Amino acid sequence: MTIFSLTEAELRERRSLKWRTYDADVLPLWVAEMDAAVQPAVRRELDAALDRGDTGYPWGTDYADAYRASAVARWGLKLDPGQLRRGGDVMNAVVCVLETVTDPGDGVVITAPVYPPFWQVTSGYRRRTVAVALTPQGRLDLNALEQAFAAPDVTAFLLCSPHNPTGTVHTAAELAAVATLCAAHGVRLVVDEIHAWLVDPGAAFVPILSIPEAQQAVVAVSAGKSWNLAAFKAGLYVAGEQALDVLDDLPPLAQQSTGHLGALAHATALHEEQAWVDQVRSEVAANKQLLSDLLHALLPSVEYRPQPGTYLAWVDCTALGLANPARHFEQTGRVAFSPGRNFSPEHQQWVRINLATSPAIITAAVERMAASLRR
Ligand SMILES: Cc1ncc(COP(=O)(O)O)c(C=O)c1O
Repeated sequence: MTIFSLTEAELRERRSLKWRTYDADVLPLWVAEMDAAVQPAVRRELDAALDRGDTGYPWGTDYADAYRASAVARWGLKLDPGQLRRGGDVMNAVVCVLETVTDPGDGVVITAPVYPPFWQVTSGYRRRTVAVALTPQGRLDLNALEQAFAAPDVTAFLLCSPHNPTGTVHTAAELAAVATLCAAHGVRLVVDEIHAWLVDPGAAFVPILSIPEAQQAVVAVSAGKSWNLAAFKAGLYVAGEQALDVLDDLPPLAQQSTGHLGALAHATALHEEQAWVDQVRSEVAANKQLLSDLLHALLPSVEYRPQPGTYLAWVDCTALGLANPARHFEQTGRVAFSPGRNFSPEHQQWVRINLATSPAIITAAVERMAASLRR
């Protein structure tokens, strides 16, 4: 079975952000939705819930328990039930954790380029965004981070692991070093691990809470990205052994916005559809190679270095000499990517390409890029 086999005609029936934002002749490879069908077990669970008229509030700890089981099976990470709480969704959890561990006016470090809402959950909530650039290879710059942490008003570091958009998978050594720096400077480590399950076969995701030095960290996570369940809101807070107080101090209602169908869907995905995400990983790895080959053949000056994390490709179009590559590809090529400047002001010349789609759509997208340059 191939997961990314839906046709463009089938996908255009969708009503979600990815398929509705642009005109009908624009091929959308932007926002992080997958062009996949719902997993069979999740479908059965949701159908059964709807048949029961089971559309009330969530109950119990099944979602947290399913996450704990997956964390042990995949990463050997053992968590105590007391380390987890249910939340609304991942960004909602990040906001609530930052509200708890920082004060208005405090500096919060993020590593640019990064998922655009990271800028919004800091400066949009009366915190000062302190952007520290990743190295040109997309790795954490420990010296620059240490300098940023040394500022007296910096009280938190919001890390994306694996990293969106670069696909960097942080190593155990990098994470231990960062956690040690945070502890030395009294900076709370907050880690968004929503892409955790999405690493290429052969690559190893390292959960921050498997690092002994990082037990003051708080994680925001959900099954939403890896199983494409963004429509079903549900997230989890996971606290390190030295961060349990943060869970008790979360703002009012922080733990009350989980959707019941979200908790059911995410728990079922975690319990029953691990093989599905492994299949996604294999297909995405092949799609990365396909994108690399296509760019090499049709747009050789464009730079793309595949990274093991997630299904997003971070592509440097500087050599094309376009004022605004994403706008050019959309307007002239009729293909939509996420503009690099949304991830950092310094990356105007980059685009992020969503590879959770069929090889046919990726091929058509690169052909449209190339054709747009001949016009
Ligand atoms: C790093 C990261 N965090 C959070 C989210 C969104 O998660 P949620 O819908 O649970 O807030 C995304 C979506 O693409 C993401 O890439």
